[in-house]
Amino acid sequence: MASLGINLDHVATVRQARRTVEPDPVQLAALAELGGADGITVHLREDRRHMQDRDVELLRHTLRSRLNLEMAATDEMVTTALRVRPHQVTLVPERRQEVTTEGGLDVMQELPTLRQAVERLQGEDIPVSLFVDAEADQLQACRASGARLVELHTGAYANATSPAAELARLQAGTRLAHALGLRVNAGHGLTYQNVEPVAAIPGMEELNIGHTIVARALAVGLTTAVRQMKALIQNPRQHLPAIED
Ligand code: PXP
Repeated sequence: MASLGINLDHVATVRQARRTVEPDPVQLAALAELGGADGITVHLREDRRHMQDRDVELLRHTLRSRLNLEMAATDEMVTTALRVRPHQVTLVPERRQEVTTEGGLDVMQELPTLRQAVERLQGEDIPVSLFVDAEADQLQACRASGARLVELHTGAYANATSPAAELARLQAGTRLAHALGLRVNAGHGLTYQNVEPVAAIPGMEELNIGHTIVARALAVGLTTAVRQMKALIQNPRQHLPAIED
């Protein structure tokens, strides 16, 4: 059964809109854990547009669950990760102009850089996941990088008007990754409406979900929003409670 990693970047987005101290992702992380979060994911971007270094440092000390640090494979970020020691690092591509992480890593193209980052982090016992599209050549390159995990990019599935073909790609990608000895997570663009088929993929370990949960939390509170998502992942085909439930 897939576990649930909650991405709290958009809590920090609201705070940074005013450069103030609220809402505090560190406090909200505790509520997400009360709702059943199995881990907390934060993306420390080079431009610090949402999460700040202070958030990552404090979360590492206060979380009862696991900290998954999303970051680019730069020297600065690898040094930060080695200092903070999250439970896991997920390497993602990063472009300053993008609204959110738009595509998976080009692992084939970036192999030397990624391999070096993986080596430095895993050499210090921090497991590394690579965020990639579910494509055979990318997955093979992931294995060549030495990473132990992949996070399959579910954005194309989430955006598709008829998602069957994209779901089949995610299923095939999961099978191939397993055959290559890689553990499989997935995320990006998943919602209360589209999550169940992805959660049901055999061997899917963890889903990382942010925006839809933070959005629902405005109406029902974060603890309830997390609880409702976890119920959908763990008991597929159950009824999604209305916002007012
Ligand atoms: N996984 C990765 C690698 C991401 O970059 C993001 C977005 O920050 C997510 C998961 C969560 O995506 P969403 O906010 O659309 O649920």
